Amino acid sequence: MPDTKYAQLLEAAREARENAYAPYSHFQVGAALLSRDGRIFTGVNLENASYPAGLCAERAALAAAVTAGIREFSALAVCAGGQVTPCGLCRQALSEFGDMDVICAVPSGEPRLFRLSELLPAAFRLD
Ligand code: THU
Repeated sequence: MPDTKYAQLLEAAREARENAYAPYSHFQVGAALLSRDGRIFTGVNLENASYPAGLCAERAALAAAVTAGIREFSALAVCAGGQVTPCGLCRQALSEFGDMDVICAVPSGEPRLFRLSELLPAAFRLD
């Protein structure tokens, strides 16, 4: 990614990741959503002994934002200890709220920049 436009958002995702609860996969993830009005909402993955009850960091961040009354986003940053892009379920959940930049941090090297619509073409919608 060529610029530092999302440096603060990435830092928020990295900081949040420290609180990830991932005792089963040991794959800790942090996410940070940037609202159109410039606010940042963070989330972490939250696993459970009943595996399907676990929640991804991206949807945790989305829940935090929507709970605060925010529904318009310009970007999402996600970071983990290895390569990560939002899972299919999170792509669908995020796409409910429109298109946005998706910045995927890697442990070393440049973050990768996508559009959500590129990661989830032809997203399902109810008319
Ligand atoms: N996970 C996320 O939180 N976000 C992603 O984008 C990929 C996967 C979590 C789910 C689970 O807690 C762990 O990472 C391993 O899949």
